[in-house]
Amino acid sequence: MITLGLESSCDDTAAAILENSDQLLSSVVASQFSTHHDFGGVVPELASREHINNICYVVAQALARAELTFQSLDAIAVTQGPGLVGALLVGLTYAKGLAFSLGIPFVGVNHLQGHIASVLLENPAAEFPALSLVVSGGHTSLYYMTSATETRQLARTLDDAAGEALDKLAKLLGMGYPGGPVIDRLAEYGNAKAVSFSLPKISSGELAFSFSGIKSAAVRYVLQQGIVPVKKGATDDPERVPPQVLDLLASYQKSIVDQLIHRLDQGLSGRLVRSIQLSGGVSCNSELRQRAREHFERKGIQVYYPSLELTTDNAAMIAAAGVLRLRSGHRDDWDLQADPNLALYPVLPTSAEKKE
Ligand code: KG4
Ligand code: ZN
Repeated sequence: MITLGLESSCDDTAAAILENSDQLLSSVVASQFSTHHDFGGVVPELASREHINNICYVVAQALARAELTFQSLDAIAVTQGPGLVGALLVGLTYAKGLAFSLGIPFVGVNHLQGHIASVLLENPAAEFPALSLVVSGGHTSLYYMTSATETRQLARTLDDAAGEALDKLAKLLGMGYPGGPVIDRLAEYGNAKAVSFSLPKISSGELAFSFSGIKSAAVRYVLQQGIVPVKKGATDDPERVPPQVLDLLASYQKSIVDQLIHRLDQGLSGRLVRSIQLSGGVSCNSELRQRAREHFERKGIQVYYPSLELTTDNAAMIAAAGVLRLRSGHRDDWDLQADPNLALYPVLPTSAEKKE
């Protein structure tokens, strides 16, 4: 079975071709980096327009790289939500039109299910039950999975997503968008103990993430210390970034990674967990990858994450999650709507939890 995956939920237009459930034939991403960079964040209207400009091109490229034609496609999987509604509509409308004209089925896919599936696409041997951390610009959620399709949310962020917290500090410091990769690159030149950020206390006692407190603390620090935005282009060279800013970035990144690892640790408590699976753009972060591996592998738990190309938004992960839906017999109708707040499915009580 040949599946075309399509992703257009935020600022990347992507198409990928997957054969069966695991053979990735091509994956093409048209980034809108230059469109949004100077705005310090994604401008929704510009994102929709760029998707319209790019979608035919990325599909043509994906087919060409896989050495296939439209007639080879058996099904289409497309992101239905969550995301920016105008951006989602471009991919969904294109998918419906193409599926209709080819007479093939299509399924809507939850973007978060896509990130989760990206880990298994490249690590089919990852064992269950697993803790799956999806950490991106729009989401920070922890799931307990007893299989690739049995997912239950254990925790989510009460305010900002981790990537959002990184992007907002970078914007304040004049470092453009997205901020995560820049902070990742510069943090290694700073002293992570220079500025202290405390772990948020969640008063309700529930397992949850929170990043707005450290973001506000960082903003206060910038104002109190009179730190000014860096000069354009200075982030290419750590020597052109003031040491105090490098220290702030290192301390800030460390505090975010500390919280992610701490919550994963809490998620282990009282549960059978055989692997930890990290996905979403922030899981590109080198400190997170390294510290998670060291910390959990010491406890005998394998840590898995996708290659960098499949960690940030892409369509291979949408195709992989779509195949799981198609295999379970699911098909969507022409009236399927884009849903900017789509909740993750299926929210089933898992067999392992029944034993808890
Ligand atoms: O998964 P993604 O491409 O899009 C969303 O679904 O949000 O994630 C984008 C986020 C941005 O906030 C970006 O700053 C962050 O991922 N990011 C990183 C790194 N690369 C991308 N954060 C930390 N370290 C990185 N190396
Ligand atoms: Zn994403």
